[in-house]
Amino acid sequence: MPSGVPDNSNGDRPIQDKIFSDVNGQKLTVNHIREMKKNKEKVAMVTAYDYFNALICDRAGVDGVLIGDSAAMVMLGYRNTAAIGMQEMLVFCGAVTRAVKRALIIGDLPFGSYQCSTSDAVYNSVLFIKAGCNAVKIEGGTEVVPLIRSIITAGIPVMGHIGFTPQTSSLWNNNRLYGKTEKSALKLLEQARELEEAGAFSVVLEMVTDEVATLISENLSIPTIGIGSGLNCDGQVLVLHDLLGLHQGTQFRFVKRYAHLYETIFDAMSLYRKDVKEKKFPQESNSFHMDKNELGKVLRKLEQQGNFTK
Ligand code: KIV
Repeated sequence: MPSGVPDNSNGDRPIQDKIFSDVNGQKLTVNHIREMKKNKEKVAMVTAYDYFNALICDRAGVDGVLIGDSAAMVMLGYRNTAAIGMQEMLVFCGAVTRAVKRALIIGDLPFGSYQCSTSDAVYNSVLFIKAGCNAVKIEGGTEVVPLIRSIITAGIPVMGHIGFTPQTSSLWNNNRLYGKTEKSALKLLEQARELEEAGAFSVVLEMVTDEVATLISENLSIPTIGIGSGLNCDGQVLVLHDLLGLHQGTQFRFVKRYAHLYETIFDAMSLYRKDVKEKKFPQESNSFHMDKNELGKVLRKLEQQGNFTK
């Protein structure tokens, strides 16, 4: 049992479980996500990578957990998403899938896992499903349509991702915002239609102007999931570390911080360090004792051996 995890055998109080309860507690599928659009219910998704956070996200009732390749930066400290590979992604998938009971789990195909061949794309999608994911996400427009078709033919639901596509966008230009011009808007609309026709169950719109995201959302039958793309998308996704305020660096305008955990964790760590240095931790209540008789026996033994100091 890792430290901090309540272990009832030693009398620690269990954490009072806070659990969102939906109508019948069923596991969500891609069809549920699609139905949400029909029912005009917004889809709430989050990117998470580890057991505890995924557990909390699921219990809080988010509809989808994306194991995003943004893990490259926020979990592994790489400079960009291009650096992460399948092996690392699968470790995060294992952790998340062991935690999540209700939400749809989507594995994000990392850079290099689908660009070289269709069989790579299908094979790596299969690995995500074997790791417990319910669907995969792939970045790109027209160029990934044949891959999407092949992955779906293998029986695996696919989510598209257009607009700013972190794996490659920054290699070509410094634009983060898409859909600012007629040309860009029409291209995005075309890409979105192609992804829908290829069978994607949903599409992420990253950093797309509100106007274009609205047009796409109104014209597709599949849900659009926005990040930095305004209120009119059919759902939203945010990176857990951003929404919890675990970052101190650049703060993107599209992020809303629902907590300020950097400060909370920093303060807790500073206090812990101070307590250790000042011998204020552990206290009597955190300590464990042996039976006095048993201790007496040990001390007598050691005394007889003559090789200890009291
Ligand atoms: O990797 C990721 O977290 C993502 C989301 C931001 C859509 O792709």
